[in-house]
Amino acid sequence: MTNKILFIANWKMFGDLESLKSIESVIKLTKKKTYTKAKVIYCPPFTLLSSFVNKTKKSKVNVGSQDCHFEKDNGPFTGSISSSMVKKIGAEYVIIGHSEKRIEGDSNEKINKKIHNAISNNLKVIFCIGENLYEKNNKKTNYVIKKQINSGLKKIKKIDKIIFAYEPVWSIGTGKVLNNNKLEKQILYIKKYLKKKFRKQNTQIIYGGSVNNKNIDNLKQIAGINGFLIGGASQNSKKFIDIIKKTII
Ligand code: PGA
Repeated sequence: MTNKILFIANWKMFGDLESLKSIESVIKLTKKKTYTKAKVIYCPPFTLLSSFVNKTKKSKVNVGSQDCHFEKDNGPFTGSISSSMVKKIGAEYVIIGHSEKRIEGDSNEKINKKIHNAISNNLKVIFCIGENLYEKNNKKTNYVIKKQINSGLKKIKKIDKIIFAYEPVWSIGTGKVLNNNKLEKQILYIKKYLKKKFRKQNTQIIYGGSVNNKNIDNLKQIAGINGFLIGGASQNSKKFIDIIKKTII
C-alpha cells in the first residue's frame, strides 16, 4: 500500500464526455515534483470508466469504479458490472459499501461478497464505513462501525488491498463535519480496532463527507488521516486542485 496522501474523487451520477477535459489540469498537477506525495484516483460513473482509463493512461492518476456486483464475473444481472469487468478495462480500484449503495440495498453480507470478488480480481477496494444520524444520536457509532468491519470483511485475512473510508452518512453532501477533536478520536478508534483485529497490519484510513476547499485547511491537521474521499468538490477541477494544493503544501 502506498504512503502517499490519497485524493479520491467520487463523481457519483455526474459527468459526461465533456467533463473529461476538466481533469486535464489535475493530471498536469500530479506530474509536478511537489505533488508526488499525492495520489489521485478518479471514480467516475460506469459510462466514463473506459474514457477515464484512456485519458489517464500516461499519467500517475488512477481510476476506480463506484461499485461492482456481488456475484461472479458474468451473469444475468441487468444494470450491473462485475469486478472482473472493471479490472479488464484497466481500472484498479472499486468503491464498495458507499452509504448511497447501502440505502439501495447493499447489506453487510452483500458488501462482503463484493469485497471478496474485487480482491480476487486484483482490484484495490475503497471500503466505506460510517454511522447515520440516528445511530450517531443514539451513541451507536462504534457499534455500527465494528459491525460493518466485521461483517464486511468476514473471511478476509489481509487488508493490504483495502483503503478504509470513514464517511459519516450525515456528513455526506450536507456541509456538516465533526470537529477536529472528535474526528481525530474516531479515526484513531478505527485504526486501533483494525490493528487489533488484523494483527498490526498497516491500515490506510481516509475521511469523506463534505470535504471542500475551505474546510481542508482544518481537516488536513487531523492526525492519522491518509487522505480524502471527495464527492461534490471533486467534480470541479479548480476546487479539487485547491484541496490537493492546500493539503500538500
Ligand atoms: P461529498 O460526498 O464530498 O459530496 O459529501 C462524499 C462521498 O459521498 O463520498
